[in-house]
Amino acid sequence: MALMPWRWTRRRERTAPDPRLWGLERRHGRLHMDGQDLVALAERLGTPLHVASARTLTTRYDELCTAFAAYPAPVRVCYSYKTNRTAGVLRVLHRLGCGAEVVDEFELRLARDLGVPPAQVVLNGPNKSARELELAVEHGAGLIVADGLEEIRQLDSLGAAAGRAVPIALRICPDVKPRGMNVSSVTGSRRTQFGLDLRSGEALHAVREAAGRPHLRLRGMMAHIGSGIHDLRSVARSIDRLLDLQAAAHRAGAEPDLLDVGGGLGTRRSREFTTWELLRYLATGHLPQRPAPAPADLVSRYGATVCEAVTTGCRRRGLEVPALVLEPGRALVSDAQVLLLRVGAMRERPGVGRFALADGGAMTVSMMFLSEYHSVLLADRDAPLDGETSVFGRLPSPMDVVYRGMPLPRLQADDLLAVMDAGAYFTATETAFGGARPAVVLIEDGRARVIRRRERYEDRVALESDLETGGGDGAGA
Ligand SMILES: Cc1ncc(COP(=O)(O)O)c(C=O)c1O
Repeated sequence: MALMPWRWTRRRERTAPDPRLWGLERRHGRLHMDGQDLVALAERLGTPLHVASARTLTTRYDELCTAFAAYPAPVRVCYSYKTNRTAGVLRVLHRLGCGAEVVDEFELRLARDLGVPPAQVVLNGPNKSARELELAVEHGAGLIVADGLEEIRQLDSLGAAAGRAVPIALRICPDVKPRGMNVSSVTGSRRTQFGLDLRSGEALHAVREAAGRPHLRLRGMMAHIGSGIHDLRSVARSIDRLLDLQAAAHRAGAEPDLLDVGGGLGTRRSREFTTWELLRYLATGHLPQRPAPAPADLVSRYGATVCEAVTTGCRRRGLEVPALVLEPGRALVSDAQVLLLRVGAMRERPGVGRFALADGGAMTVSMMFLSEYHSVLLADRDAPLDGETSVFGRLPSPMDVVYRGMPLPRLQADDLLAVMDAGAYFTATETAFGGARPAVVLIEDGRARVIRRRERYEDRVALESDLETGGGDGAGA
């Protein structure tokens, strides 16, 4: 299997990306999603604006389930909330039967408020507060993933207080680095802060410790090695290392019955910059070329890789095949949402290039434009590519950029841009530094409905106690 399922296109880009690759269509030049005119939505609701598709969310969830249909034990999909925690998006996934992987009190409470059965909730996180652990135990979360030795002890005490064994998994640092990713998206290497270290023996020590604790039920091992993975061999390697510990847990007297393989699968049309591409882009503004789409069978190959790695790995070690927990984030939501931006003004700087000033940028979405390639389409009319344009946001900061040097049609004021694959880590990492947080619209059953309104002045000042008291004696913390 090729390590990189695609290569950067080497030739100059001559044709704009085809919207049909994302299931969008052009009618009279205007982009439509699931029958809805994106230009009309932007006019009615203002920009920046996120538009999500329930149809695509459903397709992605079904695709993932199909990829694991042949697995010989139960498979539970627990969507990683932090990827996109807009309640209306979560509701679509939960209606399909998806569980929740949560990382803090906010997400734990959100899952509860959305009615997710506690057994389908997994709590993760490298530094959970005592309150978060307590809440998770109280709530009866189906799995709490302990990230360190101290959490094992804390959870055992909470189990003693609750009078029952707390179901836990151990997050392992398998020291596996998927190829083709940048440093900000690798989470399974020893240089990251996550999990119990395999190489030094810390993980094995933790397995014995957890197996011997009376108020814990050690259900299995967990790892999450990165986000945006296309190197499926790294996923198999990580699973193999987890199974060694699963066997050790058996020997230590525990009865592990599940394996949590985390999330991390990449998407077909957006992709991480490699470390070199990232450094070059930051240093010189040289944007990597648009990647060719990854093969259409990416998800089924991922399913086959995981199933094969677990079943053969268990057979070799004489273990029963465990239930699987999957924690997908971007693979479920990335291409189910677009971000619409309006061009306010154009500037031409002779000898330097063309600049488009849009109403959102890197300060609207804090990370993604710096480390991932997302296609940008002209949404209000069809036009051929015409050189390169740097698209900036509204802030008086050179960092507030969508992309530098992106091949685009010749833009004009009032054009509408669609940033594609904006469903993962966009709303989740947005900041108010670039302006009010955008509204989110969901298209479902042919109708468009606002599932999150645009942030208002009142929302933003609601936390400012000094405004309330007029600078007088505040109410305290
Ligand atoms: C523990 C854990 N699980 C799941 C995910 C989801 O990852 P992805 O969006 O790459 O699928 C993350 C993301 O960082 C994570 O840290």
